[in-house]
Amino acid sequence: MRDNYILNIEDAVVRYKDTVALKGVCLQVSQGEFVGIIGPNGSGKTTLFKAITGLVGLKSGKIEVFSKSIDTNKHAVRKKVGFIPEIGKIDPRIPVSVGEMVTMGRYSDLGLLHWPKKKDLSMVDEALDLVEIKSLMNRPVGHLSAGELQRAVIAHYMVRKPSLFLLDEPTTSLDWKARADIVQLMHVINKAQGLTIMMVSHDLATLPVVCTRVVLMKNGLIVNNGIPEKMLNPENLAELYDLSLTDMRKRLSTFNAD
Ligand SMILES: Nc1ncnc2c1ncn2[C@@H]1O[C@H](COP(=O)(O)OP(=O)(O)O)[C@@H](O)[C@H]1O
Ligand SMILES: [Mg+2]
Repeated sequence: MRDNYILNIEDAVVRYKDTVALKGVCLQVSQGEFVGIIGPNGSGKTTLFKAITGLVGLKSGKIEVFSKSIDTNKHAVRKKVGFIPEIGKIDPRIPVSVGEMVTMGRYSDLGLLHWPKKKDLSMVDEALDLVEIKSLMNRPVGHLSAGELQRAVIAHYMVRKPSLFLLDEPTTSLDWKARADIVQLMHVINKAQGLTIMMVSHDLATLPVVCTRVVLMKNGLIVNNGIPEKMLNPENLAELYDLSLTDMRKRLSTFNAD
């Protein structure tokens, strides 16, 4: 039934000046899913997340989040959606500590003119525990490693008690250990808290471990969509990335041997 969907996207078209970035995207996501999104650069993955949070408008089609049109409910939707942009897009020079940054996550509920109360501070504590950076609470955000910064950002959104988490390439620029840790953390959050997650990632090895579904995007369209085992085969991937099947097989085997 349509009303069960957390997210309902029908024929979404997004256009920047000369580029049509989404050319009629349809996607439905249910509560508790972990949806992986892959596709070459420029295929519209980030634009899809921006459209879901109302940061770009639709030329046509519709997007409903929690059964509300994003067009007319941006504020309410954004309160319930944590959108974590690519780590490179976050300015690490913001002059705050980890604890302050996570506490700031509470302000979307509190309003800027209210001091956080005991309850808010215990939510901050809980979130720092969850992402395992409590010991870094007083450290300036600018002095964190990329993996730690990513955890702090995740905690910042977790204290808002989101119903949907959008992660845009959360592991790009992390080393393999930090990468696996972040994906594992998202897995736990999805399983333990039932939080619905959508994650853009190029990490083909970890996607099948955590995702309940993988969406393949190319040229502003969803070209395929299904369980990871069916989606992430050499044939689909070769077509998606415009590689020959032999090439793709070679890449996958080097990759699996890593
Ligand atoms: N602000 C923008 N202005 C103009 N074109 C843009 C803008 N953002 C993205 N695009 C274009 O839209 C297309 C999709 O981009 P994007 O959604 O960032 O893709 P992806 O995240 O899959 O790499 C690309 O061709 C990109 O150049
Ligand atoms: Mg992108």
